[in-house]
Amino acid sequence: MSPDPGQVRFFRGSILLGTASLDTELTLCEHAEMAGVDIPTNCTSGTCGTCMVTLLKGEVPLPEEIPPGLDDELIAENARLSCIGVAKSSLDIEIRPPL
Ligand code: FES
Repeated sequence: MSPDPGQVRFFRGSILLGTASLDTELTLCEHAEMAGVDIPTNCTSGTCGTCMVTLLKGEVPLPEEIPPGLDDELIAENARLSCIGVAKSSLDIEIRPPL
């Protein structure tokens, strides 16, 4: 039996919205879709910031070059862009309230 691959969990506040099995090739958006959780997207290329979520636990590496949709302040708050952020470990993700 293969070891448990891990999980990506999506929260809004303390409410668990959905869970997907970890696939380290897939973005946060793709995990959300598998979990039946709706993350709004627009550009899907890291530019607009629409798909922004907060990383509560786990590892979502930042791209080498900070994409236009993020800045240092947001990164300090553990913001990630789910359209380009790839899940590299089990994660807890907080969905940001719609603006
Ligand atoms: S959808 Fe635009 S940054 Fe992700």
